[in-house]
Amino acid sequence: HIPVITIDGPTASGKGTVAHKVADKLGFHFLDSGSLYRLTALTALRRGADLRDEHGIAKLAEHLPVSFAGGEILLANENVSQAIRAEEVGNLASQIAAMPTVRQALYALQLGFRKAPGLVADGRDMGTVIFPNAQLKVFLTASVEARAQRRYKQLIDKGFSANMEDLLSDLQARDDRDTHRAIAPLVPAEGAHFLDTSHMTADQAIEQVLKWYAQ
Ligand code: CDP
Repeated sequence: HIPVITIDGPTASGKGTVAHKVADKLGFHFLDSGSLYRLTALTALRRGADLRDEHGIAKLAEHLPVSFAGGEILLANENVSQAIRAEEVGNLASQIAAMPTVRQALYALQLGFRKAPGLVADGRDMGTVIFPNAQLKVFLTASVEARAQRRYKQLIDKGFSANMEDLLSDLQARDDRDTHRAIAPLVPAEGAHFLDTSHMTADQAIEQVLKWYAQ
């Protein structure tokens, strides 16, 4: 039986960092499920896909030529690790993530990440839809202000420009869409442990998750 730890939460809550480090510490595989929605969005943007064409976008998701190599994300051999982090891509990702056929197209791909010795998966529906039988489920949150600041720093560090006011409104729009969509909305999974990281360092959050897992 291969253990899974799910870490779900709103945008820029720090779940990516926490999930990645927890996976490292345990020697587990890591699934950044948001990257799959971002990759689909990036492909749709580049192809000039019509957002009303849900079927066409689901086809793109189904045939993503994606590979993960040493922490980098490749799309048909092009390293797109940086390109998928643009705000424009994140916003479009959240729009196409509301399409049931897109979610369906990415379902099997996500299940495939569950490999020995274990998996840490981060996203919105890891504990509710994709891995409902996970050993440990965490719902990671932080205040809107803390999250906007984290996203700001992340964008600047990656060489993007950023504006705090736009970020705050993007964040709220995205939270609203992710929480209220009809399919796989962002809600805490049954039995999830809550972790508010507003006043925590990443290391403290990682330690807490590891402690829960060890219990
Ligand atoms: O980095 P950030 O938390 O802003 O976003 P992300 O985790 O990369 O995900 C981008 C978008 O994909 C989110 O706003 C969600 O709408 C969507 N998503 C989802 O619907 N389900 C997931 N399991 C992961 C992401």
